[in-house]
Amino acid sequence: MDSFEFNKIAGAFLFALLTTTVIGYAGNALVHPKALAKNAFAIDASAVAAAPATGAPAAAAKIDPVAPLLAAATADAGKSVAQRQCGSCHTFDKGGKNNVGPNLWSVVTRTKGVVDGFKYSGAMQAAGKQAGDDGKWSYENLNHFLANPKAYVAGTTMGFAGLRSAQDRANVIAFLRGQSDSPAPLP
Ligand code: HEC
Repeated sequence: MDSFEFNKIAGAFLFALLTTTVIGYAGNALVHPKALAKNAFAIDASAVAAAPATGAPAAAAKIDPVAPLLAAATADAGKSVAQRQCGSCHTFDKGGKNNVGPNLWSVVTRTKGVVDGFKYSGAMQAAGKQAGDDGKWSYENLNHFLANPKAYVAGTTMGFAGLRSAQDRANVIAFLRGQSDSPAPLP
């Protein structure tokens, strides 16, 4: 390669370098990139800040009692939540068949895990053998179960994350209460 050839190649390189540098400067001058003073999307960190620093399990989260909400709860609203959220696994009518989950006719105040012909988990069967009210679906027990099934009955096979809204739970429980020949008295 003679030196003339070499100069041509080196020249091409330098020219390319120069062009990209100039284009870079020109681009910056035209667009004025500037850091935003504030995030365009506000990120609410309060929930993170409020979480216990010790990493206590969510199961320990406080669950609002349902009793004060029941008087004003509407079974109709509960029915539509139940059909959407529970209907894929449960029937609610008298004589309804067991599905992925047991039929829920007359479940309020009944002993846990006793619907004929349904194969409950060992955890649910054990839950039904607890003494007194603990073994029954009292209003508050249902409230806790529906808020977080796996936290209330560890080992349950009910694959449902839970109803977060206390009002939804109250409405669903009001609906379930009505699905009975003799609805249990309100608490
Ligand atoms: C993915 C299916 C599924 C969904 C969705 C579901 N469940 Fe269940 N449910 C089950 C299964 C399975 C069981 C039995 C659990 C066991 O044996 O541990 C159960 C058990 C129950 C029980 C106890 C019944 C008894 O006889 O002791 C109640 C009450 C209940 N479900 C209510 C609900 C309500 C209310 C909803 C909606 C908010 C719901 N479930 C959503 C599958 C489901």
